[in-house]
Amino acid sequence: MINSGIFGIGTYLPEKVLTNFDMEKIVDTTDEWIVSRSGIRNRHVVAEGQATSDISVIAAQRALENAGLEAKDIDMFIVATATPDMLFPSTACIVASKLGIVGPPAFDIAAGCTGFVYALTLANSFIKSGIHKRILVIGAESLTRILDWTDRSTCVLFGDGAGAVIVGETERNGIVHSVLGADGSGGHNLTLPAGGSALPASHETVDKRLHYVHMNGPEVFKFAVRAMAKSCKEVLEKAGMTVSDINWFVPHQANIRIIESASQKLGIPMEKVLVTLDKTGNTSAATIPITIDMAVKEGKIKKGDKLLAVAFGAGLTWGAVVLEW
Ligand code: ACO
Repeated sequence: MINSGIFGIGTYLPEKVLTNFDMEKIVDTTDEWIVSRSGIRNRHVVAEGQATSDISVIAAQRALENAGLEAKDIDMFIVATATPDMLFPSTACIVASKLGIVGPPAFDIAAGCTGFVYALTLANSFIKSGIHKRILVIGAESLTRILDWTDRSTCVLFGDGAGAVIVGETERNGIVHSVLGADGSGGHNLTLPAGGSALPASHETVDKRLHYVHMNGPEVFKFAVRAMAKSCKEVLEKAGMTVSDINWFVPHQANIRIIESASQKLGIPMEKVLVTLDKTGNTSAATIPITIDMAVKEGKIKKGDKLLAVAFGAGLTWGAVVLEW
């Protein structure tokens, strides 16, 4: 039986930072509202001309360096993103090309904020099957490119960033178990309505601001708390573990109130919960690798620690994974 795990990790947050006080100048909001309703204080914003593939490449290079590997050692590229460079080709193909690699398969995963957990689960299966040896998994978003900067209920919540990991064979426990799920009947609560085959781009779609994120916040909130608690319970049961076996809970970073509610439902004390959304906002598919990387650098996560990571997002989708660092 082959075990698979994470070998190297690297992240990138764009240099430009927008604080809540900057947001006060853009829309009718206040630092007090944003902090009390979401916990967010800052978000990073991609530079002019910087695309999701560009920030992915920086994170990937850092992950490769961290693993002591080169791009030529990678035999599959997966990018989880809701903000690809374009509808096609996939951002993964662009990333592989920018890293100078021709040949290995490269594709994107579209599972919104759950994308990284989906991609990690897929990579785990490819490694365990013995078909692939080293897979680069990236969660990356340039969400500020698709925000409606006149809609205060969405534009204050999101930010840009990228996180990359290398997944490969390990003698440790590595990725112990994961669960994934989806319920398309709730998909209308979180959409980017136009620009696809259902509603192609037109003057009308632009005038109606349909090329931006549309979200029913309260509905997503309720779904998120339910989905996080349920999928965590399921994955712990599969792994034959309980919350007391977990050293660090790594929830998707969308809203501190969602994180607190889910932690409470699961009986996880806040000392074990990693929170980075105050610094980054919701970076969608990138929040989990960014949060893990920050905690490793701060000396919180140590080799052998057991992590429980969980996400929810557009689809609607959810996923949870237990892994040994
Ligand atoms: N500043 C000031 N007031 C605001 C702002 C703002 N930025 N945004 C909304 N408000 C107002 C609303 O207009 C409303 O006013 P009203 O009562 O006069 O109508 C009031 O604040 C309350 O609005 P609610 O939407 O009820 O506020 P709520 O407490 O639900 O918080 C929030 C909103 C933060 C969006 C919350 O619902 C949430 O976090 N939902 C989950 C969102 C999420 O996790 N999204 C990520 C999905 S993952 C992915 O795949 C991208």
